[in-house]
Amino acid sequence: MPIIAPSLLASNFLRLEDECKMINQSEAEWFHLDVMDGRFVPNISFGLPVIEHIRTATTKVLDVHLMIEEPEKYAEAFAKAGANILSVHIETCRNLHRNIQQIKALGMKAGVAVNPHTPIHLLVDIIEDIDLVNLMSVNPGFGGQKFIPYTLTKIKQLSALIKERGVQVDIEIDGGVTIDNAKSIINAGATVLVAGNTVFKSTNPIDTIAALRKL
Ligand code: DX5
Ligand code: ZN
Repeated sequence: MPIIAPSLLASNFLRLEDECKMINQSEAEWFHLDVMDGRFVPNISFGLPVIEHIRTATTKVLDVHLMIEEPEKYAEAFAKAGANILSVHIETCRNLHRNIQQIKALGMKAGVAVNPHTPIHLLVDIIEDIDLVNLMSVNPGFGGQKFIPYTLTKIKQLSALIKERGVQVDIEIDGGVTIDNAKSIINAGATVLVAGNTVFKSTNPIDTIAALRKL
């Protein structure tokens, strides 16, 4: 069964405590937290103080997706804020291997996020060092965009690479996941589904999370 990671970006920020309670009661195992800096992506979301508060509202896994330049400057602060998994974008890291070691030394699981234009073969020399690949299925920066179909090919390529190396690496699909396309995404080899609008804009988010999980 896939891990479901609701993206808080689509939640009602005025009622964040209730939204956290809802996810706590659901079958979702992770909270997906999208941090944006207005430089790497053309949008600004939320940051450390919000995540510190979310940490007090749940014991579930906090999966932090950094869409920021120079993520190495902030890794320690996100560890202190309570992140369990920290993903950095390959496109922002000139010393990716060093950044991954830093994240792991801080006690977090390390993820690498890749944009839709970034080929899977760029991961061949880092795949054995990481816990997760966040395969972006939309261009990062906004919720509610349409799933890019070519992502299915990239999931298969990544899945083959992971099998070939015999490593345990989660494949997380981020952007445009719906009840209609989730099955094909899982069949291609994804192990984690991020879902923002599909969960938070549905009439019954808890049922929607359960439905995504059982597909
Ligand atoms: C986009 C973010 C996603 C986003 C997904 O930059 O990384 O996590 O919140 O939202 P939906 O599921 O609505 O496409
Ligand atoms: Zn994300």
